[in-house]
Amino acid sequence: MRVSVFIATSLDGFIAGMDGDLKWLNEASAEVPEGDDLGYAEFMASVDTLVMGRKTYEQVLSFGAWPYGDKPVIVLSHNPLVFPEYIPDTVSHSSESPTDLYRRLAEAGSKHIYVDGGNTIQRFMAVGLITDITLTLVPVFLGSGIPLIHELDQQIHLKHMQSRTSENGFVQVRYELIEST
Ligand SMILES: NC(=O)c1ccc[n+]([C@@H]2O[C@H](COP(=O)([O-])OP(=O)(O)OC[C@H]3O[C@@H](n4cnc5c(N)ncnc54)[C@H](OP(=O)(O)O)[C@@H]3O)[C@@H](O)[C@H]2O)c1
Repeated sequence: MRVSVFIATSLDGFIAGMDGDLKWLNEASAEVPEGDDLGYAEFMASVDTLVMGRKTYEQVLSFGAWPYGDKPVIVLSHNPLVFPEYIPDTVSHSSESPTDLYRRLAEAGSKHIYVDGGNTIQRFMAVGLITDITLTLVPVFLGSGIPLIHELDQQIHLKHMQSRTSENGFVQVRYELIEST
């Protein structure tokens, strides 16, 4: 089963500024030429299940409209969650470990999971479950914020698969994970 990360970071490796600030990303994304989504729609179409951390879920809720349609989404939290009425039934809560969740989804026939949220990505990566990562580098140094990876006990080596740029200066790099040492 493929387990992907598809995420934008600042040049200094942050996925959000302090307190989850995404203004830098939203402003930069507004400059992306129409129709140039750097493969996001194609990627999403290939994903059968989205797994996201509670903090990312709360950020998505703050956008007002649920952007994932009826795509199955699993929100991870150690605490119970009450979903707003407008959230589709395909959104569920889990507190399973990455390994248990991976096993359950694999047994249920999942082929491609999208893992989102820095802390959540880190937990999946730490147990060797991430298979590929697509980073969209936004040309800004934030200086502080929420890192993509905070801390890992092992080095993770990746193989470069593809790079591309958008007209507005985003550089997107896709890697496959090859080994942990
Ligand atoms: N730049 C981008 O493209 C991008 C993409 C996604 C997100 N973001 C930003 O990143 C920020 C959120 O990232 P983050 O690293 O702070 O947090 P996160 O990964 O979204 O959420 C972390 C939380 O997820 C829960 N969690 C994760 N794994 C779990 C497990 N196995 N079992 C139970 N609970 C689990 C815990 O929730 P509880 O504390 O409730 O137990 C944990 O505190 C937001 O500001 C968001 O906007 C940016």
